[in-house]
Amino acid sequence: MKRTILLIGACLLAMGLAGAQNRRPDAPLPKWEGLADTPQMGWSSWNKFQTEINEKLIKDIADKMVELGLVDAGYVYLNLDDGWHGERDAQGFVHEDMEKFPSGMKALADYLHAKGLKLGIYSDAGTNTCACYTGSLGHEYQDAIVYANWGVDYLKYDWCFTNNINPKGAYTLMRNALRAAGRPIFFSMCEWGSNKPWEWAADVGHSWRTTGDIGVVFLPVPPKYDENGRRMWAPLSVMGIADINEPLRQYAGPGHWNDPDMLEVGNGMTVAEDRTHFTLWCMMAAPLILGNDITNMTPETLAIITNRDVIAIDQDPLGIQGLRLRKEGDLQYWFKPLEGGDWAFCVVNIGEEAATVQLDWASLEVDDELSGRKTDFAKVNYRARDLWNASAKPFNTLVKGKGKLRKQLVQNPVTVVVPSHDVVLYRLSPID
Ligand code: GLA
Repeated sequence: MKRTILLIGACLLAMGLAGAQNRRPDAPLPKWEGLADTPQMGWSSWNKFQTEINEKLIKDIADKMVELGLVDAGYVYLNLDDGWHGERDAQGFVHEDMEKFPSGMKALADYLHAKGLKLGIYSDAGTNTCACYTGSLGHEYQDAIVYANWGVDYLKYDWCFTNNINPKGAYTLMRNALRAAGRPIFFSMCEWGSNKPWEWAADVGHSWRTTGDIGVVFLPVPPKYDENGRRMWAPLSVMGIADINEPLRQYAGPGHWNDPDMLEVGNGMTVAEDRTHFTLWCMMAAPLILGNDITNMTPETLAIITNRDVIAIDQDPLGIQGLRLRKEGDLQYWFKPLEGGDWAFCVVNIGEEAATVQLDWASLEVDDELSGRKTDFAKVNYRARDLWNASAKPFNTLVKGKGKLRKQLVQNPVTVVVPSHDVVLYRLSPID
């Protein structure tokens, strides 16, 4: 009996090995699973430092991420964006810029891992990166092996210099290469939504950019044209990006997220604008990749990015991207279904004046086909907690209340003031 089992085991092993050997080197391989159950959180060098990055800066950032509790709050990826590349060697293997990173990338990965952080890196599907360093075209498997050997945990893969390249093919090739290299690496696709990756990339990447690059600007600005009448490039605004990303909610979910670009919180908008930016990214279940100089930030910025209740909206295990129920003049009403029958609810004011808003729950009813969830305000009573103002007393949402609850509502009519470019955000939890 024992012998038979051993024989069968040996046969199965041999078959497995033969199978592995017969695999064509270009056969599709699945993306790494389990890396993106909730949207990724971390920090990236691009928005603040562009290509001016080096080992000392990155280590200082890492130290601060631990010291300020950012790692504990969930920001675990520390991502080098464009500007880390050195040259390729005679065999085509890529090297880090040893002037910027004198101890090498492997040592940096070890440093980060010892602090509970993960290392992210950046490359491009074309001949060059957007800042003109070497791209991965023709070197995909080599690059993936190098990253795996260094201990890289995350790859952002850009789309500059990709003339005549098929996007699905290019991103699938890198997915295969990352899988073949054997180290779980988060795959962040950065193709700016040009080829609608939400329609084809759920099994290719863990997230995909849905828009062009964000800037430190809250409201859309009118386009500018050069002397030849060509539209000049300008970064997108927070609210402009929200308009593009919101209708794509059906495509996001655990394992594959819409990415409306990295955060600009702390980079120069007002505190109100930063708060609204952060809120909407959480409502949209967006990756939360900080983009400011965290070694030097104001207490207000720190308070925004470490608000655990707000982060929990983004990281809710259901992974349902929120929806904008209504725009009404300068006001926008957003909802996001959360676990346990809860909802996140916010009102954004993009106007220049503060707005006094009477919350009329009967007119805010949500019937969300995507999640199958309804607010049912007429039947369900909710307790509302103000997430940006922890000291505010919770109130009950009540359309047709009975007895005690009704009395509370009458005593406490729900009128809120939303300052200019600001937001009020509540977590609604059903009560009996
Ligand atoms: C593109 C990307 C940005 C950034 C730069 C780097 O513009 O969209 O997020 O990575 O390239 O050059």
